[in-house]
Amino acid sequence: MSDTAPAPSATAAATAAGPARKLRFHVLRHDPHDPASVPHTDVFEIDEAAGMTLFIALNEIRETLDASLAFDFVCRAGICGSCGMVINGRPTLACRTLTKDLPTDIMLAPLPAFELIADLSVNTGKWMRGMSERLETWVHSLDEDVDLRRIEAPMDPDLADRIYELDRCIECGCCVAACGTARMREDFVGAASSSATTTACSVA
Ligand code: SF4
Ligand code: FES
Repeated sequence: MSDTAPAPSATAAATAAGPARKLRFHVLRHDPHDPASVPHTDVFEIDEAAGMTLFIALNEIRETLDASLAFDFVCRAGICGSCGMVINGRPTLACRTLTKDLPTDIMLAPLPAFELIADLSVNTGKWMRGMSERLETWVHSLDEDVDLRRIEAPMDPDLADRIYELDRCIECGCCVAACGTARMREDFVGAASSSATTTACSVA
């Protein structure tokens, strides 16, 4: 193949690997803001394509089968934390989930423990903000006269290394959704808050 030959399309690649699988998405639907809404499951069937993620699949469903389906994605790269949902019983990032790693029947539900916006969309930001305000997960300065215009001091590289893993929390909410204690105790803070408080304490 020459360097200028076009890349094979997703459909062509799927055909080369054999017939595309039919995927059936069983999606828990509900709009708590609509008094007439009753929680129920809708089933959507689409053809799998090579390299298909749940982000691609859900957008195809919304574009071709049901424009009212609600879900959240922003970065599509595991960075923003907005696409957490329960995928076949497991809270996971949908943008990082390949359909080839799932069976043909895929159950999708919103993350529990968070306020439901609609269908697969939940308000993790409200929970994270409440947790952050309860625990005061920000840097508390011992200096009463803080000069907000001063140049930020460089962080010691060893300290940066030590807090690297904790600082990587993207506030997706999957750990909270997977935790039975978070469901039983409203004040339970979970792994996300451990990251936030330890990071704030380390840099204070
Ligand atoms: S600690 Fe929890 S909220 Fe943070 S990235 Fe991990 S699973 Fe998501
Ligand atoms: S869309 Fe940003 S983490 Fe999935």
